[in-house]
Amino acid sequence: MPRMICQVPFATPAFDELLALRDRILRKPLKLEFNIIDIEEEFDQVHLAIYDPLCQLMGCLTFHILDDSVLKMRQVAIDTPFQRKGIGSVLVQEAENWALTNGYTQIVLNARDVSLDFYKKMGYKKVGRPFKEVGIKHYKMEKELGS
Ligand SMILES: CC(C)(COP(=O)(O)OP(=O)(O)OC[C@H]1O[C@@H](n2cnc3c(N)ncnc32)[C@H](O)[C@@H]1OP(=O)(O)O)[C@@H](O)C(=O)NCCC(=O)NCCS
Repeated sequence: MPRMICQVPFATPAFDELLALRDRILRKPLKLEFNIIDIEEEFDQVHLAIYDPLCQLMGCLTFHILDDSVLKMRQVAIDTPFQRKGIGSVLVQEAENWALTNGYTQIVLNARDVSLDFYKKMGYKKVGRPFKEVGIKHYKMEKELGS
């Protein structure tokens, strides 16, 4: 499927659309609410979105810059009708390309139990033991880029 990947500026209508998608896909199923303080802290993070040819939002993710070489991938969400169609894989691959182009060499993330196979398939490796976050089991994972 043709698609377009863009960096979305913080505090714009396009960013609000990302927040709505994240709320629907990541928070509502866990009965969680957005914390406005957490969102405000995202002003300097990198928000990437993937759209279909009609500019309909299909998915998004966020990079938190931890240091000059390491990014934390967060808030990975593909809208329900687009799941299991390869869209998440394309978004993560393009996000890794963005990271490499911008000089980053490692991506770390906290994977929900249910998304473990997805990240494994994308080349991420589990690090350490599982832990609980927002009430569900997570795994710390990481990937060295360009290796
Ligand atoms: C997890 C998620 C990002 C994956 O994106 P996607 O577009 O659905 O995944 P893809 O179609 O690119 O899947 C690629 C491969 O990952 C694996 N995979 C993806 N979703 C999976 C699932 N729910 N269960 C098991 N394996 C899965 C499969 O091996 C799949 O290949 P296949 O379809 O040929 O079997 C997306 O389904 C999603 O947003 N889920 C809900 C929110 C979530 O869990 N986000 C991650 C938070 S850490």
